[in-house]
Amino acid sequence: MTQTPALTTSSKYTSPAIALHWLIALLIICTFGLGWVMTDLPAGTPNKMQYYAWHKWLGVTVFMFAVLRVLWRATHRPPALPSQLPIWQRWAAHLVHFLLYLVMFAVPLSGYLLSSSAGAPVVYLGLVQLPALIDPAPALKPIFRTAHVYLNYALATLVLLHFLAALKHRFIDRNGVLARMLPWCKCK
Ligand code: HEM
Repeated sequence: MTQTPALTTSSKYTSPAIALHWLIALLIICTFGLGWVMTDLPAGTPNKMQYYAWHKWLGVTVFMFAVLRVLWRATHRPPALPSQLPIWQRWAAHLVHFLLYLVMFAVPLSGYLLSSSAGAPVVYLGLVQLPALIDPAPALKPIFRTAHVYLNYALATLVLLHFLAALKHRFIDRNGVLARMLPWCKCK
């Protein structure tokens, strides 16, 4: 018989949650930067092909870690926010976190659909050919491209809001909220 894992609570995030948070953040920054650069390279150059391949590997990796992260989050309750935090800030935090989870899936999925619609294979790490999500469909390609670009704008906006909120907690409110997600924090 399978057992439901126990929910855990503490004033600090668990080590796997912290590791996944920073790993995904780093991967997203690299994937985003590469996406930005590769699209401006001259068509048909070997660099462009290589950058597209790396971009896809990184994007698929973000998706896989995002699955792990959601599974961890569902079984390990995050620490409660400080009680003195105004209600609107709690709602804003929950909303931004929820939307960040959504775009963590939607951005890689739209990129993958763009690739599949163009009939371009995704060969993970140059080793394993992953299945296409749909048959090649040139008519859908511009739709998925537009979706991928605008979802990336949404991702960048949410990451910026999240970053500014973390700075506010650290330097204006000085309430320890940021420290709970830092690997070197000794808080209990
Ligand atoms: C977190 C994951 C991802 C991020 C942050 C990301 C980000 C980006 C960015 C910033 C661009 C440039 C958009 C532009 O200004 O034209 C781009 C383009 C692109 N991405 Fe992604 N991407 C991700 C995942 C993926 C995945 C998983 C795939 C496919 C398996 C993919 C396929 C593509 C392709 C084919 C383009 C080029 C679009 C074109 O030629 O106009 N992306 N991506």
